[in-house]
Amino acid sequence: MAAKPAARRPPALKPVLVLNGPNLNMLGKRQPEIYGRETLADIEDACRVEAQRLALAVDFAQSNHEGVLVDRIQQAREANSAIVINAGAYTHTSVALLDALNAAELPVVEVHLSNIYKREAFRHRSYISPAAVGVIAGLGSHGYLLALQAISRLLVR
Ligand code: DQA
Repeated sequence: MAAKPAARRPPALKPVLVLNGPNLNMLGKRQPEIYGRETLADIEDACRVEAQRLALAVDFAQSNHEGVLVDRIQQAREANSAIVINAGAYTHTSVALLDALNAAELPVVEVHLSNIYKREAFRHRSYISPAAVGVIAGLGSHGYLLALQAISRLLVR
């Protein structure tokens, strides 16, 4: 018997990279009045559920080291289809992360748990926003899920 023609499925997308910067490994313990009580593992679990709903694959990485974040963003150029990034304090200091994100040539959504515009003046400036399609701030962990939804729309298949 002749084999059935393959079902027409959209080509598999590379995973979306959800990248977290310094001190985000401390979520749950760190200033819960600002960042909430969820741990990074809780947030990653919620991202996994949302990604599945959106038919996206996800990779997760966290580092406290700027160079390690740059290395992971460089890898993403080949390995990932988009980047959701909470760069933590490097948001407000890092030209290296901005350059890496620009060089990746991928859709980037910048996320912050807290509303950085309601906080100290030094947090009002993001060095990485010029590389981002959009920025989500102040919505807590829900911001990561909204970022995945935005990415899903951007990666029209
Ligand atoms: C943060 C805001 C940054 O200013 C801070 O340095 C962080 C977390 C946020 O998610 O609200 O580490 O990116």
